[in-house]
Amino acid sequence: MEMEPLLLLLCLPHVAHAAEAAGREARLAGTVLPLRVQQLALAPTQQAPASRLRLRHDVSLTVPVAVGAPPQNVTMVLDTGSELSWLLCNGSSAPSAQPFNASASFTYGAVPCASPECRWRGRDLPVPPFCAAPPSNSCAVSLAYADASSADGVLAADTFLLGGGSPPVPALFGCVTSYSPATNSSEAQAATATGLLGMNRGSLSFVTQTATRRFAYCIAPGDGPGILVLGGDGVALAPPLELNYTPLIEISRPLPYFDRVAYSVQLEGIRVGSALLPIPESVLAPDHTGAGQTMVDSGTQFTFLLADAYAPLKAEFVNQTRALLAPLGEPDFVFQGAFDACFRAPEARVAAASQLLPEVALVLRGVEVAIAGEKLLYRVPGERRGESGADAVWCLTFGNSDMAGMSAYVIGHHHQQNVWVEYDLQNSRVGFAPARCDLATQRLVVDTGA
Ligand SMILES: *[C@@H]1O[C@H](CO)[C@@H](O)[C@H](O)[C@H]1NC(C)=O
Ligand SMILES: *[C@@H]1O[C@H](CO)[C@@H](O)[C@H](O)[C@H]1NC(C)=O
Ligand SMILES: *[C@@H]1O[C@H](CO)[C@@H](O)[C@H](O)[C@H]1NC(C)=O
Ligand SMILES: *[C@@H]1O[C@H](CO)[C@@H](O)[C@H](O)[C@H]1NC(C)=O
Ligand SMILES: *[C@@H]1O[C@H](CO)[C@@H](O)[C@H](O)[C@H]1NC(C)=O
Repeated sequence: MEMEPLLLLLCLPHVAHAAEAAGREARLAGTVLPLRVQQLALAPTQQAPASRLRLRHDVSLTVPVAVGAPPQNVTMVLDTGSELSWLLCNGSSAPSAQPFNASASFTYGAVPCASPECRWRGRDLPVPPFCAAPPSNSCAVSLAYADASSADGVLAADTFLLGGGSPPVPALFGCVTSYSPATNSSEAQAATATGLLGMNRGSLSFVTQTATRRFAYCIAPGDGPGILVLGGDGVALAPPLELNYTPLIEISRPLPYFDRVAYSVQLEGIRVGSALLPIPESVLAPDHTGAGQTMVDSGTQFTFLLADAYAPLKAEFVNQTRALLAPLGEPDFVFQGAFDACFRAPEARVAAASQLLPEVALVLRGVEVAIAGEKLLYRVPGERRGESGADAVWCLTFGNSDMAGMSAYVIGHHHQQNVWVEYDLQNSRVGFAPARCDLATQRLVVDTGA
């Protein structure tokens, strides 16, 4: 698989703090953080149960966080699909440029294996935590990743500082001291994230541990600034936007393939232009095993659909764009193992055609998430076709879950660009509103006196 060099796509220079945060509800009320998208060649994607296996080498959404005392600056992947946060700690084998030095933090503490937290069994861990040998008696966690990389560490606690003026909050995380990358390429060594901020609804997620009842983000495309707002009143903090909400789906009893701590919503249909795809309702809802749930996930780049929904989308998109885009015509070509609706065309042609492409809308209960223009196509790095490589290769930014070994629908962060997305745990719903995220970010930074 080709890997792009380390690439910083989005960046916001300032960290802002919402001084007028309304809520007593959260210890993190109104914290405003810069959000950026960056290429992580070797973000170790957390080993997931069959319902949500992650792709390797994808572009991740990251936030700057200060951990420990005195605070150490680290960059963490924002992942609404994971529970346990973790940091690459002082291990010398870490590919990270900035590992967290646990010994240098006087607020750092390892969780003893006798403590109740060490009996935690989240979906994130393939095996439960276990007692390390004396004398340490620490609570050892062992993570294995989908791309055959693995990490070992201990369950630990330290303070996390998110945003300029907010108080540090204590939280448990996995302090990863030994890390085995899947490959030793130079790109792999260049990964810059120190860890991952687990934002799902599980008991050990950062959200749950800090009693955050609401958070929101806005991801700007290109090199524009993006923003993450934790706690407070997300609506009041947002620019004047009309958010439309979709309820979070709960199930009463556990099912093997249903992730109950994910942000799960109900997909009701998919539209391409004005055509609503003929997809049976049963294909869009979780079945008796829990397979077929739809998750809003900031930790996955693109969007994945089960094969029975993906096939009609691909056929309809190819049909509606046949005058605009030439199909790649290579049946064996599959980008990242799941993207096979691909085209070939020079960059200029795609730029001209992108505004003419039909909009693809994910119809959720109560709200539509519309994807249009440049967000629909991704240029596959390093692939050229034709005389003197005039054509680039482009793939539709929807993948086939079945081909990726997943049994769920996943709405990835690429399709959340220029959308204000609010996770409202208080009211068990997720809100969406189209937004200009660069402007929203500027306004928030000014309003909150960054
Ligand atoms: C950490 O980041 C803050 C804010 O960007 C900066 O002021 C501070 O100097 C950084 N600290 C270190 C040790 O780099
Ligand atoms: C990491 O820190 C721990 C705790 O201070 C220490 O025991 C261990 O030797 C360190 N490991 C490395 C590789 O520096
Ligand atoms: C980590 O911090 C300890 C204590 O301040 C220091 O002795 C050690 O050199 C640091 N390790 C690294 C890799 O910076
Ligand atoms: C790792 O590096 C070694 C030596 O630099 C090289 O021979 C080997 O092919 C590399 N392995 C991978 C998987 O890139
Ligand atoms: C493509 O669309 C046209 C009209 O929009 C329709 O008549 C035709 O059957 C479609 N072809 C396929 C292969 O779906």
